Amino acid sequence: MSDKDRILIFDTTMRDGEQSPGASMTHKEKVDLADLLETMGVDIIEAGFPASSQGDFEAVREIARRSKSSTICGLSRATDKDIERCGEAVRAAARPRIHTFISTSPVHMKHKLQMGPNAVLEAVGHSVAKARNLVNDVEWSAEDATRTEFDFLCKCIDAAITSGATTINVPDTVGYMHPEEYGALIRSLREAVPDSDKVIWSTHCHNDLGLAVANSIAGAQNGARQIECTINGLGERAGNAALEEIVMAFKVRGDSLPFETGVDTTRLARASQMVSRITGFPVQYNKAIVGKNAFAHESGIHQDGMLKNAETYEIMKPEDVGVSKSSLVMGKLSGRNAFRDKLKALGYELDADSLNEAFRRFKDLADRKKHVFDDDILALVDDQLSAMGERVAFRSLRVIAGSQGPQTADLTVLVDGEECSASCEGNGPVDAVFNAIREIVKHDAKLDLFQVHAVTGGTDAQAEVSVRLKGESIMAVGRASDPDTLVASAKAYIHALNKLEARRMKRMAA
Ligand code: KIV
Ligand code: ZN
Repeated sequence: MSDKDRILIFDTTMRDGEQSPGASMTHKEKVDLADLLETMGVDIIEAGFPASSQGDFEAVREIARRSKSSTICGLSRATDKDIERCGEAVRAAARPRIHTFISTSPVHMKHKLQMGPNAVLEAVGHSVAKARNLVNDVEWSAEDATRTEFDFLCKCIDAAITSGATTINVPDTVGYMHPEEYGALIRSLREAVPDSDKVIWSTHCHNDLGLAVANSIAGAQNGARQIECTINGLGERAGNAALEEIVMAFKVRGDSLPFETGVDTTRLARASQMVSRITGFPVQYNKAIVGKNAFAHESGIHQDGMLKNAETYEIMKPEDVGVSKSSLVMGKLSGRNAFRDKLKALGYELDADSLNEAFRRFKDLADRKKHVFDDDILALVDDQLSAMGERVAFRSLRVIAGSQGPQTADLTVLVDGEECSASCEGNGPVDAVFNAIREIVKHDAKLDLFQVHAVTGGTDAQAEVSVRLKGESIMAVGRASDPDTLVASAKAYIHALNKLEARRMKRMAA
């Protein structure tokens, strides 16, 4: 038996994280991410806000249907319609939860809700009771709790507990608190509210002052046993508390933070890469735990120390978070079985057709690139899986670039299985490629982001390109990798276009 207190990890990457401008995810991306979070041992997955759109409803319902061990939660405002929709979406989960909330701070009640305190208090009781009629597990949140008058907050929480809430969440919605204050708030609430020991107390901290993780930990030190967080700290404005930082803080500092989580930390790097690829939001190089430089030692003094004993400068091992020490994998002589084993180790189980296709692409890449690393394989398979079944598919590209214009692109794609070609000039080679795509697939979406990264080091590294397209009130991020940056750019643009089109069709059907 462990002498540590168990902290429940509540992931809201697909709800609060997705609220971050430009971070929208497709149905399949959400389902894949939920699968990974469940395998990782995340206790509660907030899969979306079912009443906000048909797409969110369907994603939450599908994730609920597939779930086995994690609790699947949906967010809902304090209205009957929202709560019923949420209940319907999570119903099929092995462990369904409804998370309902209302603002309690004076500024939110007056300007956002235009409701007085008595009406808000009544809505708390009514909404929680309504949710509790649909599921046994109900979480209630006081939006902007940290700017709420203490006695009123206690009254609202009391009403929520009396009406059947099983978890009470205390959001620092605007990221205003500092750790001592937030910890004291959790402690005072637990002391002041009747029956506080009958519920689980939860933190939900935003990162506007860069204190979200510290505040969440202070919450745990003062009795909270659920922490709401997101992969890479994705979320509104400056984001939410980063899941990977919280989990590793408890793991590394168990000596003075006597808490444990159920998360398999060796999957943290994978989850971070997946969220970054899905959203097109790069992970900053010096990001704690999952940044590219988190385990890199550059200076001579540090390298010398590391060679003598890794503990000189490393408080955790890269393997603990899923960064393999030697990520050099295979070359062109590697066989199919070794490739399949490698994929398995990286967390992929492909069906026979997909495995054949991935192996063919791996061989192509190994022909062009001397060393193939784990990151190359991840990029290659993610690319293949995300492009499956798309209406527009890349075929071939020839570009004339250089200092003597005009730069031109000859592009061939398949549209609904039919070959279409275009030849266009542009203000530079990338512009020429995108003009050629626009010539073949007419659309009015605007390019909102174009970003290139090297997947690994070296001049023969694959380029990973992210493209964000903005249509009328919808956005889509496409990404692709290839040793040729222009081919990767064309594929990423086409991927974004396919996603935008799929989203538009779904909207029209709803
Ligand atoms: O930040 C916040 O207050 C929220 C609530 C809806 C839980 O995200
Ligand atoms: Zn939030």
